[in-house]
Amino acid sequence: MNIVILTGAGISAESGIETFRDAGGLWENHRIEDVATPEGYARDPDLVQRFYNLRRAALKTVKPNAAHIALAKLEHRLLRQDGSVTLVTQNVDDLHERGGSTDVIHMHGQLTSVFCTACNHRWNHAQDIKTGQICITCKTSDTTRPDIVWFGEMPYHMDRIEAALSSCDLFVSIGTSGAVYPAAGFVQMATAYGAQTLELNLERSQGSHYFDDSQLGPASKIVPQWVDAVLNEN
Ligand code: OAD
Repeated sequence: MNIVILTGAGISAESGIETFRDAGGLWENHRIEDVATPEGYARDPDLVQRFYNLRRAALKTVKPNAAHIALAKLEHRLLRQDGSVTLVTQNVDDLHERGGSTDVIHMHGQLTSVFCTACNHRWNHAQDIKTGQICITCKTSDTTRPDIVWFGEMPYHMDRIEAALSSCDLFVSIGTSGAVYPAAGFVQMATAYGAQTLELNLERSQGSHYFDDSQLGPASKIVPQWVDAVLNEN
């Protein structure tokens, strides 16, 4: 069986990372235009760096939960049975990797990666981006930015994601509100290619009616249950 899984902020919520659109979520206290657009960064780079520095530092205080760990188990077990899991995440945290998943497609970028807007070099960076930061390749200062896909920018790895959607048996969406495209459209794409579709979420998402099936509850409970059910059937 070939499965494509899309995850969103809900899978990391029980690890202690704020979601975006739930009550008290990140977008209630910060304006998207200020901290998640190229225009906001051009207007006030220090504000944007502070926002992502705080979130990068917070990674050190959280750990993967049972849902991340269950998806890693699914990947390893299906591989042994000639199946596959393509794990696509909108999350910029590293909890899937720390939960044991080996090939995570970060379509919205990663907090632990930065790039230089002068020479486009990317590198891993787990600390704060400081004012005056120098690019490790071209040595330009103040051109290092978070490797995060902001609104108005093209998500990463779309070709690979579309190829996986076109040949999967099952598409599963976990912990995402379905508010942001193109990820919100993956369910319709998978359906058009003939896959079954399943949503695992705390509550019905905006695109819930597009899914063949929905299972509702906290990710740390319903994801391991679903993984065990899949592995028992295979
Ligand atoms: P949202 O905050 O929009 O949605 C989180 C979803 O997770 C909601 O549907 C919640 O009901 C659900 N949820 C909350 N706690 C949960 C739990 N314990 N178990 C299961 N589900 C739970 O986050 P995303 O859909 O990931 O993009 O947001 C998509 C994109 O919008 C993000 O990647 C980010 C944001 O703007 C960028 O910054 C580019």
